[in-house]
Amino acid sequence: MKKILLSMMMVAVFLLVACSESNVYTYILDESYDGFITLGTSADYPPYEWPMNVDGKQQIVGIDIEIAKHIATALNKNLKVVNKGFDFLLEDLDQGKVDFVLAGMTPTEERMEIVDFSKVYYEAIQVVLIQEVNKDLYTSFDSLNQSTIRIGAQTGSIQKDLAETFTNATKQYIQTIPDLVLRLSEGQIEALIVEKPVADGYISNIEGLYIADFLIGDPDGGSAVAVKKGNSELLEVINDVIDELITSGEMDRIVEEMILLNSGS
Ligand code: ARG
Repeated sequence: MKKILLSMMMVAVFLLVACSESNVYTYILDESYDGFITLGTSADYPPYEWPMNVDGKQQIVGIDIEIAKHIATALNKNLKVVNKGFDFLLEDLDQGKVDFVLAGMTPTEERMEIVDFSKVYYEAIQVVLIQEVNKDLYTSFDSLNQSTIRIGAQTGSIQKDLAETFTNATKQYIQTIPDLVLRLSEGQIEALIVEKPVADGYISNIEGLYIADFLIGDPDGGSAVAVKKGNSELLEVINDVIDELITSGEMDRIVEEMILLNSGS
């Protein structure tokens, strides 16, 4: 009995290690760099971050990964990327499992209680993604705020808070954006709240989707880098990198390049 239990435990440990390794990606930026800095992200958010096969190898790519590479380079470190569900990221940071988080994350009061944020590196607005066939049907907040309507948003996101303002509608909160987009395409939900660059990306890749012709609540969603509370040393380097990327025009170039990469051109 003991033996069986022990081997079962070993299998469990093996599975745990195997699983935890499979979501880790390494980027050797320069052979001479000293060790790694670890980024936490949630790669379900093109063009911010998404999985892609690069030269036969599965990688995470996107705007946030490019910025993370610049941050790592400024520290003379190579980059490790840990891919997790969006709602796990701040906990991982707080527990020291990752050094910083880039995930198209908007600095909110609530999050600022747990972690520290850099300056905003990219501004986007929130939109409502619907099926194109319904574009003349869902033209206002009220047209979606009905008991027959199902509105989707990502678990733990600011879009979830926006979805809550549709008090009469049914809400569906799901961990990943591709799952939500699939549900929208298949008519299992009527609307999905996401940031505009993400909506644009799906529209260019999937036929029949449309951005509704109205804005909701407070549409602002800037993205910032999160670090463990009190890690001002790292935050200073990150803010300098962001300044440099913005003033040199490199940020615009990265955004443009990643939007193109996501649309497959
Ligand atoms: N900007 C939104 C937020 O901070 C959504 C970010 C979702 N990011 C992701 N990688 N899925 O809540």
